[in-house]
Amino acid sequence: MLTPVLSDNWDADRAWTLPSYERGGGYRGVRKALRMQPDEVVQLVKDSGLRGRGGAGFPTGMKWGFIPQDNPKPKYLVVNADESEPGTCKDIPLMLASPHTLVEGVIISSYAIRANTAFIYVRGEVLHVVRRLQAAVAEAYAAGYLGKNIEGSGYDLDLVVHVGAGAYICGEETALLDSLEGRRGQPRLRPPFPAVAGLYASPTVINNVESIASVPSIVANGAEWFSSMGTERSKGMTLYSISGHVKRPGQFEAPLGITLRQLLDLAGGVREGHQLKFWTPGGSSTPLLTAEHLDVPLDYEAIGKAGSMLGTKALQIFDETTCVVRAVLRWTEFYKHESCGKCTPCREGTWWMVQVLARLERGQGSETDLEQLLDQCDNILGRSFCALGDGATSPITSSIEYFRDEYLDHLRQGGCPFDPAASTLFATVGADA
Ligand SMILES: Cc1cc2nc3c(=O)[nH]c(=O)nc-3n(C[C@H](O)[C@H](O)[C@H](O)COP(=O)(O)O)c2cc1C
Ligand code: SF4
Repeated sequence: MLTPVLSDNWDADRAWTLPSYERGGGYRGVRKALRMQPDEVVQLVKDSGLRGRGGAGFPTGMKWGFIPQDNPKPKYLVVNADESEPGTCKDIPLMLASPHTLVEGVIISSYAIRANTAFIYVRGEVLHVVRRLQAAVAEAYAAGYLGKNIEGSGYDLDLVVHVGAGAYICGEETALLDSLEGRRGQPRLRPPFPAVAGLYASPTVINNVESIASVPSIVANGAEWFSSMGTERSKGMTLYSISGHVKRPGQFEAPLGITLRQLLDLAGGVREGHQLKFWTPGGSSTPLLTAEHLDVPLDYEAIGKAGSMLGTKALQIFDETTCVVRAVLRWTEFYKHESCGKCTPCREGTWWMVQVLARLERGQGSETDLEQLLDQCDNILGRSFCALGDGATSPITSSIEYFRDEYLDHLRQGGCPFDPAASTLFATVGADA
């Protein structure tokens, strides 16, 4: 059931170094790709069915195909390594354990879109990862995998590791571009899309770390190998991050379409003596699911049909000791804090949602507050400038759908009915009214 590809070398001796990576067959993909035409590489990635692992699941090869090659401006590849969605913790372990997998992916992907400059935008808080990346890039330059005339092919590539200052919104691809250009990170109006006018108004591909890191194995093993894994429209293997109330939290690499029940078996199950209450399939901006969804295949289509989104495959597991109102309040405080303030529905709406949720959590509101919350969500969803606002509504609407009674219990009891000491999660919250 486990299919270690990206994570295959993570426990190798000094896996983050070039000699270790090459011993495991690393940089074979680069050599093979450089013997192909760039368009053939794009076609290969299209044929593999790889979909973006940053959340939306957009087909990667198709995105590369949007780059207008007749545009005389330089082309850029930008890797989104800003990982900060609550619960999401796959790109950072990947870059820490095997930064060369990403560097190799960057070389192949840049070659495919005919870019001679690429950037990895990594969040500044993860200094240990920044250092690993910088060291890997230096090793790759010294070995001739980066720089001029790579492997004698005539192809040149420079790779810049850019350290962000740590804002969730800078993971939104157009805010990331503004930040990379030295401006305050706020989303841009689209169109024009980055493929046409992205970084420095030039054609730009922005992809998630895991998407780009998947490319070397696709080139080395072929499109059919990759598409033989997964489901009809969600192909390949992927990293699932399991956190929360499980015995063995961590990264589990498995095909798309595996179920949470199967993954929980691999993770040793919910912690001893407890049951699953709710979970997120792809981070806190994907609607909550419950124990009734244990057998839903974890792919884009099935999770969508179940009323949620696969997102980043960050499976946060909560057992029956967790107060859902408290958990949702905590997440909403995050969205309020991270709202960039550019548009009114999100800037004002997330603030108001925290106020109402905090009141409810203290058992001080009334039942009409629930309707008010849903109304606030309705005024944010689809009316915000970017997906941060939409995502902020997901935990609220889904928790009211599945746990309305628990909200009402707070009101009946005049306070939270849960023992905060019993749950190890979300112990300290409180609105800054
Ligand atoms: C608020 C917000 C934060 C985001 N953060 C990230 C992130 O940290 N990493 C990421 O790859 N995508 C993030 N995204 C999605 C990106 O905008 C973009 O869709 C993604 O980088 C595309 O890569 P992919 O096609 O390889 O999935 C975020 C989106 C939003 C709205
Ligand atoms: S939705 Fe929120 S984060 Fe996005 S542009 Fe509007 S205020 Fe900024």
